[in-house]
Amino acid sequence: MKLSMVGTGYVGLVTGTCFAEMGNSVICVDIDENKIEKLKQGIIPIYEPGLESMVKENYKKGTLEFTTDIKEALKKSDVIFIAVGTPQGEDGSADLQYVLKVAQDIGKYMTHKMIVVDKSTVPVGTADKVKETIQKELDKRKVNIPFEVVSNPEFLKEGSAIEDFMKPDRVVIGAENEETLEVMKELYAPFTHNHERFIAMDVRSAEMTKYAANAILATKISFMNEIANICERVGADVNKVRIGIGSDKRIGYSFIYPGCGYGGSCFPKDVQALNKIALDAGYKPRIIQAVEEVNRDQKRVLAQKVIKRFGEDLNGKTFAIWGLSFKPETDDMREASSITIINELTKRGAKIKAYDPKAMDEAKEFYLKDNPNVEYTQSKYDALNGADAMLLVTEWKEFRSPDFDEMKQRLKNPIIFDGRNQYNIEKMNKKGFEYYQIGVPE
Ligand code: UGA
Repeated sequence: MKLSMVGTGYVGLVTGTCFAEMGNSVICVDIDENKIEKLKQGIIPIYEPGLESMVKENYKKGTLEFTTDIKEALKKSDVIFIAVGTPQGEDGSADLQYVLKVAQDIGKYMTHKMIVVDKSTVPVGTADKVKETIQKELDKRKVNIPFEVVSNPEFLKEGSAIEDFMKPDRVVIGAENEETLEVMKELYAPFTHNHERFIAMDVRSAEMTKYAANAILATKISFMNEIANICERVGADVNKVRIGIGSDKRIGYSFIYPGCGYGGSCFPKDVQALNKIALDAGYKPRIIQAVEEVNRDQKRVLAQKVIKRFGEDLNGKTFAIWGLSFKPETDDMREASSITIINELTKRGAKIKAYDPKAMDEAKEFYLKDNPNVEYTQSKYDALNGADAMLLVTEWKEFRSPDFDEMKQRLKNPIIFDGRNQYNIEKMNKKGFEYYQIGVPE
C-alpha cells in the first residue's frame, strides 16, 4: 500500500518504518527540515533499539522516503497517518493545534479518495474535529473528494517500540465504514496473525481505549507505590508483597513494580488529559486524580530518604546518580524522576555526579541545563568517586550486576539508595553496604 506518515517522532517514525519493512511504500513527512535531512543521512533523532538499521535499509531500498512536502506525499498515497505531537496544554488537556494543522493541509492538498488515520493520542471526539477541518478546506476549494477519518491508537513502549509494533497484543481500529475497515485490516495483517489480534470498534471507543489503557497501567504503578509507602511504615517488604499478589492471574506481575515514580511522554500527559476530558464532560475522576498526585509525590521519595539520612543541609555533599532517562533503553528524559530527585538535592546544596548510558546529552542540553551543580561522568564507576552515596534512579541492565567491591572503593561511604529495588537486601548488607529500597522498612 502507499502510505504517508505525518510526524517523525517516536510513534510516526517507528510506525512508518515498520510498515515499510513489510513492503509498503511509506513517505514520512515532518515540518522540521533539519530532522528530515538527518533522517535521509541515516541519523535518527532518538535512541531506540533496532530502529536505525531498519530506517537505513528501507531508505536504501526506496520503501521509506523522507520529505517536508505534505502536498507531494498526499499525491502519492492512499492512507495518511497523523502522528504528530499532542503536547500538554496549560490546563492539562491535549493541545490539538498540530493535529488540526495537518488536517487543514490534508483538506487543502488532497487530490483523491483517502483514509486519514489518527495515530496521535487524542481526546475523544478529535476524529470528528479532524473530519470537520478537512471538509471545511474541501468546501473552500469547492471540490468533493471522499475521505474517512479512522482512529488507530498506538500502544508501543519506548525502548521496545519495534518489537511492540511488530508483535502487538492488539491493533485497535475505530472506523464507521466496512470498506475502510477492510483496508486497515489488510494493512495490519502481517502484524496481527491474520486478524486474530485486530479489534474493530467505533471511533470514539477507539479514542477512549488509548486513555483507558494508559490510565490503568499508571494506576497499577501508583497503587503499588502507595502500597510500598505503607509497607515501609508497617514493617512489611513490598518486594514480597509484589510477588504475593502478582501470582494471582487476575492481578499479574506486570506494572506492579514500585519505584521512584513513572515518567515519560505518555503516562503523565495522558493521565492529566483524561482528567481534563472527564471534567469537561461533567465528571470528577477521583481515582485518576489520585494516580497523578501519588506519582508527583513518589518522585520525591528517594530524595526524602537521602534528606532523612544526611539532613536538610546538603552543602558539601556529593551524590552519584545512576540513570537519568525515564526508563531503561531510551534516551528520553521527559518527566523523568531523575529531574525531580536531582533538583531536590541540589537546591539543598548538594553536588551531583551523574551517569546514564544514553541520556546524558539530552539531560545536559535540555532537562538539566539550568542546573550547574550536575557533572556528567564517562562511566558508572566514575560517578561514584568520592560521593557520599549513590542513588539508582533508572534500572539500566548495566547497573544490575555491578562490581560492588569497586563501588565500595570509589564511594566515600558505602551507601546506596535504590529507587528501583534492583539488589538483594541481605547480600548488600553482608557486603557492608548501607542499602535503602522503596517500600522496605529501614
Ligand atoms: C507507555 C505504555 O506502556 C505504552 O503501551 C503506550 O503506547 C505509551 O505509553 C504511549 O502512550 O505512547 P512508555 O511511556 O514508553 O509506554 O513506557 P512504560 O514502559 O509504560 O513505562 C512508563 C513509566 O512507568 C516508566 O517511568 C517506568 O519506569 C514506570 N514503571 C513501569 C514503573 O514505575 N513500574 C512498573 O511496574 C512499570
